Parts: sequence; structure tokens; C-alpha cells
Amino acid sequence: MMISISHDKVTTCILLLAVMACLVRSEAPQAVEICSLCHCLKDPKEPSITVDCWEGSRVHRQRFLQRFDLRNILWPVASEVSGSQPPRVRAFFRNLHLPDLPIISASPQVIELSFKSVSLETLPTEPFRNVRNLEILTITGNNLQTIEHDFFAIENNLLRLDLSNNSLVSLSALEQSRFEKLEFIDLSRNKLGTVSRQLLYVLQNASRVRLENCDIYSWDCPANTRWKVLDLSWNHLTDITTKTFNDLEQLEELYLSHNDIRIVYPQAFENLQQLVRLDLSHNDIFNLAYSLIVPSTVEMINFANNSAERWPFHKLSENLRVIDIQYNELSEINPDQTVNVVRLNASHNQIRKFSSESFPALIELDLSDNLLEAIPGGLGQQLTMLTLDGNPINRIFIDNPMVLKVLSLNRMPNVVELEASAFKELVGADESKELDCVEIRIAGCLNLRHIDPKAFEGTTVCKLDLSNNQLTTIPEELIDWKSLYGGVNLQGNPLDCSCSQQWLVDELLSLLYEKRDLQYLLDNLRCATPPERKGQRLVKHLGHRGAFCGAVKMERLRNSPGEDNVVQAGFGSIFCTQYDEDCLHAHEGTGLIIFISMVVITSILSLVMLVFILVRRRNERRNMSKEGALLMPQYRF
Ligand SMILES: *[C@@H]1O[C@H](CO)[C@@H](O)[C@H](O)[C@H]1NC(C)=O
Ligand SMILES: *[C@@H]1O[C@H](CO)[C@@H](O)[C@H](O)[C@H]1NC(C)=O
Ligand SMILES: *[C@@H]1O[C@H](CO)[C@@H](O)[C@H](O)[C@H]1NC(C)=O
Repeated sequence: MMISISHDKVTTCILLLAVMACLVRSEAPQAVEICSLCHCLKDPKEPSITVDCWEGSRVHRQRFLQRFDLRNILWPVASEVSGSQPPRVRAFFRNLHLPDLPIISASPQVIELSFKSVSLETLPTEPFRNVRNLEILTITGNNLQTIEHDFFAIENNLLRLDLSNNSLVSLSALEQSRFEKLEFIDLSRNKLGTVSRQLLYVLQNASRVRLENCDIYSWDCPANTRWKVLDLSWNHLTDITTKTFNDLEQLEELYLSHNDIRIVYPQAFENLQQLVRLDLSHNDIFNLAYSLIVPSTVEMINFANNSAERWPFHKLSENLRVIDIQYNELSEINPDQTVNVVRLNASHNQIRKFSSESFPALIELDLSDNLLEAIPGGLGQQLTMLTLDGNPINRIFIDNPMVLKVLSLNRMPNVVELEASAFKELVGADESKELDCVEIRIAGCLNLRHIDPKAFEGTTVCKLDLSNNQLTTIPEELIDWKSLYGGVNLQGNPLDCSCSQQWLVDELLSLLYEKRDLQYLLDNLRCATPPERKGQRLVKHLGHRGAFCGAVKMERLRNSPGEDNVVQAGFGSIFCTQYDEDCLHAHEGTGLIIFISMVVITSILSLVMLVFILVRRRNERRNMSKEGALLMPQYRF
């Protein structure tokens, strides 16, 4: 009986499924509204609709796969939005599987199409020929190897074309295109090798051209372009001659970083009379036979990560504001002229001498990781940030007046102490507090063991980093600790937690603890000595007056009301300080509950233990007597 019923059911089901399948099949060629398959978002301001189709947008995966067919899509129409104007449609397809794109349903309203990571491999038969009003077309992150000609070959409205991150080797189809309105083209991350003169001509009216990461090894400069931005970084260009970029007269930004450039002709950029920004970083430019003529319009030069041993620039104009020349092999910075540069990064060179009089306008100067033996003087009035990390400077003493927001003197192996009045001539320029103050960083100095209590006398510090030095004691009167609104970082020092440093716990720690955003400064603040406190976090002793001065544990327990107050003030983590430091991490937030449960569990366990011990004792006493052995079984647990 049972079997025959279920058999009937199966048959019915199969029949039903077959009928359904037939229905679905006959439905397939019918057009489907895209908004029934993907998310559609109306823009309340202009009559426009954004269609977003991606993995997560498939409300019903199966239905989506059955019905999604770009050939038979109904794009949103006028009635769907208020107002009579037909909506402009922007459609985004991403993370779908669309290996070959069909001819997309016609629509005069579609102005943007984007296919991002949809596994596209081919574009067979002019898929966009019926969406002729397209202004923006993006096909990125696919595996497209060629592109055939399409609507671009006739007059069109395309403003932006993004074909980046594909496997395009040749763009010959684009050579016949009419890109009269095109403003932006992105061909980056393809395998072009070279770009034909014809294509460059077709693109002549664009203003931004991206060709980075295209394995380009040869470059034939187009003439009469309107290009303003050209990105050729991450290619294989080797020589920049007078001809390479000579005709790009409108160019404002030229990016050539991460190529294999060895040779740059001095006049290579001379003709670019609109150039504002030039990036030659990460190449192999050694000493130039003749220094580079930089057009007078240039405001920013990046020459970082080359191998220049000499200042590579010919006379610089007053427009130049920013120079990045870090990671070269310069032994001095001496441009033989006065420049208007406000930001100079010359870190990671071999500079022994810095000619400050050439740079009176500097605001930011980074000379870290060089061979300077003293803090350079005579730096201009504008300077607010000075970084000298990693130099073999022996003595930190500022003897010329300086007005700074940040002074960074990290990683100085030769510095052993900070002497009295070392920063007397340093005036703060950070206006964020009523009194102008300065942030000072002296961290990672592996031989810095001593700080004079008067080291910071005469200056106003707003933030102090003394982490990872070899300091064992910190003088209490070093600074007005309350005025340090950015906190003090003393972590990573071998602090001596004896009585003389009790003030650290009593005053400094609570100051840092009061501000949530400064509590990170307590994470790795640890004692190195005496042996019984070695490795302990200082925060463990917070709220225990006299902990470093031989106070006993009982005293602490009596102080407990004070600790309760702190718990109530919202610093859940402080509650752990009388216990183990690991507790800090484990019990934050739910601390009180866990604490109570721990007390309860401990009490129960103690009670059980007590009973056990009492019984055992009694047994032992009985064992000693002769009849004890007979009674034993009664007391087995
Ligand atoms: C390039 O496309 C691949 C495949 O879609 C993607 O995983 C990758 O993140 C893309 N790379 C960039 C830099 O966009
Ligand atoms: C660029 O614009 C100029 C003037 O508008 C036009 O004469 C020329 O044909 C355009 N070039 C291309 C390749 O479309
Ligand atoms: C200078 O360049 C180095 C290396 O690129 C960088 O780490 C540092 O942040 C730069 N300095 C400034 C002040 O920007």
C-alpha cells in the first residue's frame, strides 16, 4: 500500500515538473523587466535609475539564472519615475558569469554600462550597437583578449571608456573608432606591449589617458593631443629622449614611475609647458650627464627610488613646491640656488650636509636615514615638521630657534641621554591648544638611558613619544604631565618599578587611564626590575598606593571601595588590575558578571574541599585506631 502511494506521488511530481519546465521554456524568449531581477534605485533628483546586478542581488538564484538574458531585457521606462521625462539608465553588472556578451536590448535611455568581474572573454557581434547613447562603458576585471569594432566606429557620445584589467593584446579595432567626445580612457593592466600611432591619434581629443601596467616597451609620441594626464607607470620604458614626450604640449601630469628608465635627456620635458606634476620614481636613473631641465610650470617632482648621487635638476623655478627624492644616493643637498620648495623628502640617502639656506620656504622636511651627525640649523621660519629619524646624531640639543608642530628624532643609536634644556630653543606651533605646543618623538633609541629632569624645560610639549628606549626611570618633574593632551608613550622601556617610580602609577597612569583614546599607551608599559615585578604591566598596580614601596596585599583589599568607583565609571578593564593581566583582555565588558560567578564557584569549590579535607582527617585518625579499617567504606567519596 505505502509503496504504491508514494509511487503515485512521484509520477505526479514528475508530470508536474515536466509541465512547469515546458512553461518556463515557452516563457524564455519573452522579455523580462530588469528591475524584477536586479536592484533598481531611482534617483529622486534627476530622472535616472541605477540598476545593480550582482551575486548578492539575486533574490532567487534559480529564477535569476533562468530569466536573466541581456538580449531580452526590458529597461525601466518613463512611467516608473515621476515626471514625464524618460529616465536615464545606468546599469552595473558585477561578479556574475557572462562569458560571452550577447547583443544588448535596445534602449535610447541607457547611458552607462559596466561589466566588472563577469568572466567576459569575448565580445562577439557588436553587443552595444543598440545602446547608442552610451556615455560611459566599463569592461574591467575580465579576461577580454580582443575587442571588435562596435558603435564607436560611427558618431557616438562616449565620454569614458574603461577597458582596464583585461588581457587585451591588440586594440586594432579601436583604431577605426570615432572618439570625438571621449574624455577619459583607461587601458591599464593589459598586455599591449606597444600602442599604435593610429590609436594614439584616435585618442587625441581625450584628456586623461591611462596606460599603466601594460608591458609597454616602446612609445611613439603622438602629436596635437589634448591630453592633460598621461599615466605610463609600471611599464618597461628605458630611454626618455627629447622626442619621447615632446609633442604632448597640453600635458599637466606625467607618471613614469616603475619603469626601467636609465637615460633621461636633459631636454626631455622642456617642451611640456603646461606640466605641473612629474613622477620619475622607481626607475634606474643614475647620475644624469646633464641635469634635467624642469619646465617652469612644474610644482611637484617625484624622483624617489632612483640611484642619483648628485642633485639631478637644473635650475628650478619658483613654482616648484614639492620634491620627493628619498631612496637615492645623494651625499648632499645643495641645489646652488634658492628654491620655493615647501615639502622636501630626502630620506634614505647618504646626506652629510644639508644646505638649509637654499630652502627658506620649507614647511615639511624629512631627512631621516641619512648620515647627519647634527641637527641642521638655520631652517626657515615656515618649518612645522622636521623628521630626522635614523641619523647618527650624537647629541640632541637645539641651539637655533625653531618653531615646530612635530619633531621626530627616532632610531638614533648614538644618543645616550637627553640633557638639560636640550629643547629650550624649540617653540611649539600646534595651535590646537591655547598654548602652542610641539609633539616630540624620541623612540627606538637603543642607547638612550638617561633623561635629565630639566630636558624639556623651556618648551611646551603636547605629545611625547619615548617608547622603546633603554630608560629605567622617568623623572617626575620632567614635564607638566597634565598638559600633555596627546599623552606620553613610555612603552617598551625597561622600567624600574621600585619606590622612586611609584609616581608613575599614582599620577601618570591614572592620567592616561582617564582618557579612553590614550589607554593604548598602557598596553605594553611593563616593569623590568625588581625581579618580583619583572614583566608585569604597570597597569596591574593602578589604584594601589605604595605598591612599589612595599605595601602589602591586605592593604589593597581594604582599598576596594575606591576600585568599585572606577568600575562604575565605566572602565571595566580596571577591575582586573588586582588580578592577572590576562584578565584585562578576557573580562572587559562582562567583568562584573564573570567576577561574581568566579567568587560563587570559588566559594562552592572551597566548601567541597573543606568537607573533603575534614573527612579525610577524620579517616586518618580512625585508620590509626584498629577498628578504623572496618568503617572505611562508609566514607568513600
Ligand atoms: C583584476 O581583475 C581580477 C579578476 O576579476 C580581480 O580579481 C582583480 O582584483 C582585479 N585587479 C584590480 C587591481 O582591480
Ligand atoms: C579632435 O577634435 C578636433 C576639433 O574639434 C577635430 O577636428 C578632430 O577631428 C578630432 N580628432 C579626432 C581623432 O576625433
Ligand atoms: C618620506 O619618504 C619615506 C619613504 O618613502 C616615507 O616613509 C615618509 O613617510 C616620507 N616622509 C614624509 C614626511 O612624508
